[in-house]
Amino acid sequence: MGSFLSCCGSEKVDEGATPIGGVNGSTPWRIFTYKELQSATNGFSDDNKLGEGGFGSVYWGKTSDGLQIAVKKLKAMNSKAEMEFAVEVEVLGRVRHKNLLGLRGYCVGVDQRLIVYDYMPNLSLLSHLHGQFAGEVRLDWKRRMKIALGSAEGLLYLHNEVTPHIIHRDIKASNVLLDSDFEPLVADFGFAKLIPEGVSHMTTKVKGTLGYLAPEYAMWGKVSESCDVYSFGILLLELITGRKPIEKLPGGVKRTITEWAEPLIAKGRFKDLVDPKLRGSFDENQLKQAIKVASLCVRAEPENRPKMKEVVGILKGYEPQPNKVVGNLRIESVKYEDELVALDQATDDDDEGGGHYHEQSSNGYGVFSALEVQKMQDPYKHYADRRIAKRV
Ligand SMILES: Nc1ncnc2c1ncn2[C@@H]1O[C@H](COP(=O)(O)OP(=O)(O)OP(=O)(O)O)[C@@H](O)[C@H]1O
Ligand SMILES: [Mg+2]
Repeated sequence: MGSFLSCCGSEKVDEGATPIGGVNGSTPWRIFTYKELQSATNGFSDDNKLGEGGFGSVYWGKTSDGLQIAVKKLKAMNSKAEMEFAVEVEVLGRVRHKNLLGLRGYCVGVDQRLIVYDYMPNLSLLSHLHGQFAGEVRLDWKRRMKIALGSAEGLLYLHNEVTPHIIHRDIKASNVLLDSDFEPLVADFGFAKLIPEGVSHMTTKVKGTLGYLAPEYAMWGKVSESCDVYSFGILLLELITGRKPIEKLPGGVKRTITEWAEPLIAKGRFKDLVDPKLRGSFDENQLKQAIKVASLCVRAEPENRPKMKEVVGILKGYEPQPNKVVGNLRIESVKYEDELVALDQATDDDDEGGGHYHEQSSNGYGVFSALEVQKMQDPYKHYADRRIAKRV
């Protein structure tokens, strides 16, 4: 789409300007005027509001030519929000895949930033697992597996097929949208990281959502494609079990989904993992495959996690003899540091699957800088020590 970033300066976009645009794959995009979006969303009325996230609110709308759209409106104008907006539009302009939510357009005004997407009639995966549709069980087993595979294919594209490679960094149920056929479309690239060629991992400020964060990333800001693989593993467990990534137990203690699943998997009680809402209706072989994939993805050591290519291969059933592997299946459970969990307000509010951290300071670890770093063990050091110990 050319360089979007030049649009991100402070110059005013003339409300009456002829909309320009381009083609993002098969999706034509264009610049919308603020007036146009205002009228499409009934003045951004509360009745049109689909939800709210870290970036701002999302509104349903209909353009004058009848297209149903979702308009994301930036809530505050500051450099951080502007950067997220710029990254999102820049990344969206580079991607084209059936499982990634493409760009329909955007609007840049003096003090407004809006992104326009196609409206997804089945909203987000979160709304089906834990939100307004949770009671209706529209997600049967087959749909859940289709969502798992499609999301994995979207991630595979980001990691392998687009140049430079892209790490999403915020894979979670609210960022997987569902079209009218329940085909998943991974959305929200505001936190995405473009990875220069030849670079395997980088250290960055921590952004994302606690229950889905890979331990090395949550603690040390070490980001690589494996972080998305970890988050995908959590998403898969969520799809299988219908449980939240972090749940609050009576008494206030918080438990991660891997902590809950670990003993059941160790005992081979795979069927007990399945969401009771499915009333026992699932494919046993697929269940074993899915548990196997999830267990591999959430391994503590990033280098032991599979690549998305392998994940897609296993989910498609290309990998033979699943039963052999599943026989000794174990899942490594992650317990976040108490200090991290204490910051997880969203689970407290009980409306999300994990707290959403936006970068809050200019130092190395964003919100996690509040932690006493010396209390945490560097996971890489820890792994290195273990490797040395094994060799002795
Ligand atoms: N294209 C879309 N079609 C339909 N609903 C959408 C669309 N985009 C977003 N939504 C709805 O709006 C809600 C808010 O989305 P938003 O991405 O702003 O927040 P979030 O995903 O909950 O948090 P985050 O800021 O971490 O991404 C989503 O959960 C989803 O239900
Ligand atoms: Mg989102």
